[in-house]
Amino acid sequence: MLCLKVPKTKGEKVRNKLLEEDLLEKRGRITSDEEFLYFPIKKVPSEDMDFEVVEKEVEMRENKFSDYREAVEIPSGFKEKLPSSYDIIGDIAIIKIPDELKDHKNEIGDAILRTHNNVNSVLEDHGVIGEFRIRDVETIAGIDKKTTIHKEYGIELEVDITSTYFSPRLATERWRVVKKTQPKEKVLDMFAGVGPYSILIAKNVDVDRIYCIDINPQAIALLKKNAERNNVVDIIDPHLGDAKRLAPMFKADRIIMNLPHSSFEFLESALKAAKRECTIHYYDMVDEEEQETRVERVKQKIIDYGFEPKIIEQRDVRSYSAYTIHKALDIEVRR
Ligand SMILES: C[S@@+](CC[C@H](N)C(=O)[O-])C[C@H]1O[C@@H](n2cnc3c(N)ncnc32)[C@H](O)[C@@H]1O
Repeated sequence: MLCLKVPKTKGEKVRNKLLEEDLLEKRGRITSDEEFLYFPIKKVPSEDMDFEVVEKEVEMRENKFSDYREAVEIPSGFKEKLPSSYDIIGDIAIIKIPDELKDHKNEIGDAILRTHNNVNSVLEDHGVIGEFRIRDVETIAGIDKKTTIHKEYGIELEVDITSTYFSPRLATERWRVVKKTQPKEKVLDMFAGVGPYSILIAKNVDVDRIYCIDINPQAIALLKKNAERNNVVDIIDPHLGDAKRLAPMFKADRIIMNLPHSSFEFLESALKAAKRECTIHYYDMVDEEEQETRVERVKQKIIDYGFEPKIIEQRDVRSYSAYTIHKALDIEVRR
């Protein structure tokens, strides 16, 4: 098989470049001698790589893994502790690694890289933090990259994982909201991020306008780029700032409140933006036992504000932790 012969000191840099250009044969084992590394490659790289290409025997790993856990090369005692799931955003995989597996994070990253042909970078997820809901991440395999293009239901979104929030796990939920949205509506996306709800709606429903608010300047900058990328700049109306202050400037038929940890704090501002008849997609993080009381609390607040609430659909979006559910409530409010 063709291999690129690279001095060991340049190995990391060249490996990243080969991955970037989709030239590395990920299934082939990289070999070495005293001075050189031999990277299995799919074809001869362009001249600017400037390293010798040699023919070499390469051990190929098993053809295709459907589950990265089959590919991880770690002592078998640790295998049962491997996480079963992780996110893929564009060509970046993001995984939470339990403490007892921290010493094997690079092997885990490598296995994920080999399992997915379209993944070029694997990041360890240290959790979502702060007002902007940004993930704290660290590269554990592949290219050190944090921006990518994510495709979802036919749209393309540029995402910067270190400066903006994005979760691919909400794709089904977003599509559900798209299907409920009606032509000619004015939509208010109070916590728009890089625009996944808004752009998906703009692309699929002949709405009048979508007002998008976010307090994170990077999110708004990417939202604008994403509106251009998907040809919906005429529909998307981006606003940088606090939704509590900005939302009441608009009047909407449909309001999306995707800030599940603190939606309740913003409910009053949302109601100020509601037309006489309006549908609110309200998200909440609720403990299993608290579900009833939380719904009642929301309904009461709406009544106090002079609207009549009607819950038209309730859905568990996903389990957030052992006892906490990420819940979606579709609420029709009428004055
Ligand atoms: C959970 S993310 C949701 C983003 C987007 N809707 C999505 O589905 O990817 C919440 C977003 O709300 C923004 N945010 C937080 N507090 C805000 C506020 N007071 N006003 C407006 N946006 C806010 C954050 O910057 C973040 O982008």
